[in-house]
Amino acid sequence: MKKLTADELRELYLGFFESKGHARIPGASVIPENDPTVLFTTAGMHPLVPYLMGQQDHPAGNRLTDVQKCIRTGDIDAVGDSAHLTFFEMLGNWSLNDYFKPEAIAWSFEFLTKHLGFDPANIYVTVFEGEDGIPRDDEAIKLWKEQGLPDSHIFPLPREDNWWGPAGTTGPCGPDTEMFIDTGKEACSDQCRPGCHCGKFIEIWNNVFMQYNKTAEGKYEPLGRHNVDTGMGVERTVCMMSGLPTVFDTEIFAPIMAKIEELSTVTPDDPELAIKAKRIIADHSRTATFILCDPKGGVKPGNVGANYVLRRLIRRAVRYSRFLGIEQGFMAKLAETICRKYEHFYPELRHNLESCIADLTAEENRFNQTLDKGEAMFNKVAEQLKAHGQNRISGKTAFKLYDTFGFPFEMTLEMAEKAGLEVDREGFEEANKKHQELSRTTSAGSFKAGLQDNSEVVTRLHTATHLLHAALHKVLGPTANQKGSNITAERLRFDFTWADKMTDEQIKEVEDLVNRWIKDSIPVTKKLTTVEEAKNEGAMALFGAKYGEQVSMYSIGEVSREICSGPHVENTSELGSFKIKKEQSSSAGVRRIKAVIGNM
Ligand code: ALA
Repeated sequence: MKKLTADELRELYLGFFESKGHARIPGASVIPENDPTVLFTTAGMHPLVPYLMGQQDHPAGNRLTDVQKCIRTGDIDAVGDSAHLTFFEMLGNWSLNDYFKPEAIAWSFEFLTKHLGFDPANIYVTVFEGEDGIPRDDEAIKLWKEQGLPDSHIFPLPREDNWWGPAGTTGPCGPDTEMFIDTGKEACSDQCRPGCHCGKFIEIWNNVFMQYNKTAEGKYEPLGRHNVDTGMGVERTVCMMSGLPTVFDTEIFAPIMAKIEELSTVTPDDPELAIKAKRIIADHSRTATFILCDPKGGVKPGNVGANYVLRRLIRRAVRYSRFLGIEQGFMAKLAETICRKYEHFYPELRHNLESCIADLTAEENRFNQTLDKGEAMFNKVAEQLKAHGQNRISGKTAFKLYDTFGFPFEMTLEMAEKAGLEVDREGFEEANKKHQELSRTTSAGSFKAGLQDNSEVVTRLHTATHLLHAALHKVLGPTANQKGSNITAERLRFDFTWADKMTDEQIKEVEDLVNRWIKDSIPVTKKLTTVEEAKNEGAMALFGAKYGEQVSMYSIGEVSREICSGPHVENTSELGSFKIKKEQSSSAGVRRIKAVIGNM
């Protein structure tokens, strides 16, 4: 088998699919352009959704290939093993209603065996076993056999393993066939098979046969198209080709791991912790650097959504850096190393390195201060307990350390162990759960009641609702206030205080205003603030609604300002057009408008 670098693998893959009639297209931002259903781009198909759905023709044609930067933080706790990463590069090839299973499987096998040089004896595949009226993928089984794979290398598995997508809550999806390499490790049990997580079989490529659409109601309906969506993991494939035990041993991570080694001044007693800490720091600093250097920008360490994910990655790296005795300011040094490694392929790293380093350093400092304060608080607690002859930290105290001082619960556990103290874990979990429930009902509460799902159209209707509210204020006056809102994928419904039937002229005036604002392409911005400040800035809030301490305030230029949990579009132009379909009575003193956007 050949040993390839990531650079060589990318080029070989893209060139191979070009030779099969695919157009090489650029990868997209890690921060999704137009999709509020996910925080980050998680797969190469993501930016291609409208083309996979058949809503638009792709300008480069029906066969595409690219390399996409992906972020998946669902497995954050698994980072530290041989293959899990929160950032990875995905090579992909797509058929937009063009070729299907025969070509996809034949080309996958050809690339793996002829171009990458994998021995077919080490290749295992899984296919969809069938479920919910969708039959087993016998065609895929037959096609793999035609390539020469024996039955013993083909595993039909249920939906849990062999159904891919959609990436968010709705969209294109379908059964898949996944390709694994047998690492030669001993099987963990006689149940061990591809898909088992013991590390014997490593998945490197997935072919999705994207023939279904998941609707907002959770139904899988035929898409009426036969797309192919594939994804090959660069880091894992390079690792499997080099015969190295983990992705962190590859040339991709080599300079990053070397830098961490150089910065480390302490070797933890627990050798497993020493390895895990290095891998976590390497992975998280790489992901954070790619997020902060992304050309789209806009994601900074913070407390909600993507910002929170970024904060968590940086803070986790900082926490683990302490086990290795790494001095403060290390994130900047790692970002620089990561930039040098990738800048030839991802020039945004070079362009944005300076601001990335500033953000990393600020967050690192902030968290170090939090940790120092938390440690001091912990020591005080420990002293008091000991003074009273007690040895158990209550759940309430552990939660206070976490909630009020931002001290990670794991650190309370670690320090308690060192100090010979017990921690009431259950009590902590309970306090945490109670807190989460409380913030869900207060901050998300009544305002979210009208929002049923996060699909793109719902998001657009949500922004349209704000524009409608603002237009009613302009046309009818400031007493035309929201009483209720309900949005489905088809329409918005808006109830407001107003006694009389609106005249045709008033309806037209409201409609025209909203359409003018759409035409004006006004940016929609979000700000985290307090209710008081939001109101001071003129934001509308629902009368009687309960809000949390922190609220998000959405502004549509100077046109509208509301306290709202979103999601919203980024620019009013995304709404296309607006039309009121119905104006009727809802109850005494309350009118109801039903309206639609887009094609009318
Ligand atoms: N979209 C597919 C995946 O991420 C290829 O596995």
